Amino acid sequence: MISITRPVHLTYKNIVKTYGKGNHSKLILSDIELQIKGGECTLITGKNGSGKSTLLRIIGGLLRPNKATIETGLITLNWKKYRNLIKNDVMYLYQEPYMFDGTVRKNLSYALHKDQAKEAVDKALKWAELEHRSNTQAKFLSGGERQRVALAQAWLKQPAVLLLDEPTANMDTKSRKRTEDLLSTFKESGTALYIASHDPNHFHRITNHRLLLDEGRIVQTDTNLLNESAQNIKDKSDNNITVLSKQIS
Ligand SMILES: Nc1ncnc2c1ncn2[C@@H]1O[C@H](COP(=O)(O)OP(=O)(O)OP(=O)(O)O)[C@@H](O)[C@H]1O
Ligand SMILES: [Mg+2]
Repeated sequence: MISITRPVHLTYKNIVKTYGKGNHSKLILSDIELQIKGGECTLITGKNGSGKSTLLRIIGGLLRPNKATIETGLITLNWKKYRNLIKNDVMYLYQEPYMFDGTVRKNLSYALHKDQAKEAVDKALKWAELEHRSNTQAKFLSGGERQRVALAQAWLKQPAVLLLDEPTANMDTKSRKRTEDLLSTFKESGTALYIASHDPNHFHRITNHRLLLDEGRIVQTDTNLLNESAQNIKDKSDNNITVLSKQIS
């Protein structure tokens, strides 16, 4: 079976999406270009209705665009071929993750091979700090806990690209931080993260690139944010060394 090579480096070009037909047609995305790279986190922001979820669902293979070209590094694909290729590699997490009837453990073991399920699910529960919830009916979990179950499901699948739609929308600061910690472990293992959030200040600890979507276009791109802060730290420590050497001399 063909799959995309990891770490991924995908380039999306000319993404166009309209909703409705004829006179009622509404242009949502107009000629968007973007890149997704393994081990990096991109935050896409924009006001309500700017098209963030629409874009994520196109990238996730769930929503057909009017136009789009995708370059994998080896081949150039149209969206339909791309969708068939990415099946197990790109995962989209809904803002309100759907839980099946049954316990948290059952939700996590779903689709796993029986022989390996118990051990894998035990590890996933530990990873997401959900051990105390393993026998709780998943439908009764809080929003934040559901989100952690969804992340644990993703952790079990280890997708090359993880798309997250407002993953911390209803969370308090502590839960948000915990989610960021979990997301950073995905980054460390080479997963590309693409997060939609209306708040540009969220996820700043893990965001490499920040895009602003407005009127169907990406109107602002801030890149290498973490490298910059690393550079700032280096500059500061260089300054400290200068100060220190002055004090010594
Ligand atoms: N299936 C649909 N049919 C028609 N219009 C739609 C459909 N889905 C979304 N829209 C419209 O497209 C626009 C963009 O919606 P989208 O959900 O992508 O925005 P968003 O940036 O994710 O918003 P939010 O911050 O509220 O989540 C909105 O005006 C929305 O009403
Ligand atoms: Mg949305």
